[in-house]
Amino acid sequence: MDLSASIRNKLGHNYHELTDLEKLYYRLVIRPTLSADHRFFFEGALDIIGQMYLAERQALFNAIIQFKPRRCFEVGTFTGGGSTFFLASAFEKIGAGKVITLEPHPALFSLATAAYRTYLPHLLDHVEFIKGGDVEAFVPHIDPAEGVDAFFLDGAENADQTLAQYRFFQPHLHSGTVMMAHDWDTDKMASVRPRVESDPQWETLLALDPPYSVGLVVLRRR
Ligand SMILES: C[S@@+](CC[C@H](N)C(=O)[O-])C[C@H]1O[C@@H](n2cnc3c(N)ncnc32)[C@H](O)[C@@H]1O
Repeated sequence: MDLSASIRNKLGHNYHELTDLEKLYYRLVIRPTLSADHRFFFEGALDIIGQMYLAERQALFNAIIQFKPRRCFEVGTFTGGGSTFFLASAFEKIGAGKVITLEPHPALFSLATAAYRTYLPHLLDHVEFIKGGDVEAFVPHIDPAEGVDAFFLDGAENADQTLAQYRFFQPHLHSGTVMMAHDWDTDKMASVRPRVESDPQWETLLALDPPYSVGLVVLRRR
């Protein structure tokens, strides 16, 4: 397969999945042919490695733009170049609100915080990084009168841990709470998924499947 075809096959994923040679070709040849929107969701933050496919990034971004939560609690920052970037960018576009994101791995936490200070200072008003792996760390950030407007589950590939994280949010839910979850089709969600799907209070707004996603859902509390 030639370089151009190989890159075009990856345009539904993200820039950081390209090889170094593909990145160079993309920047010189492919990039000028893409719409600004396609570039934004494909590239993310060029200087920070990012995960998530293009359609997944759009789904998270659009959910924040549409429902305007005051805060979105995220489990699993990684480097901050994937979901965190798109959630924070949506809050920046609205001009209010922030993503509060939890990451237990010290090196990833340091990488993400340093990267935002260096490359994305304009987003710092819309993101708060928490070091740790216990969702209880969110408690000081939850206003009891507000509850939780939005949360995104994308932590370790561990069904019990994800279930405990989901349960943490339960008492804070209200009508209109937006829940987003990644890896809906994998073991990570094996305990959460049946509970959510059998709970009539959750309305599924969007469910992305392969090849556009490894499983991403957006739901809203009735
Ligand atoms: C699949 S990655 C998240 C990817 C990220 N959302 C993105 O778009 O780039 C999972 C992350 O969850 C983190 N993690 C593992 N256990 C966790 C826990 N108990 N709480 C929060 N994050 C956790 C891992 O260190 C890893 O960075």
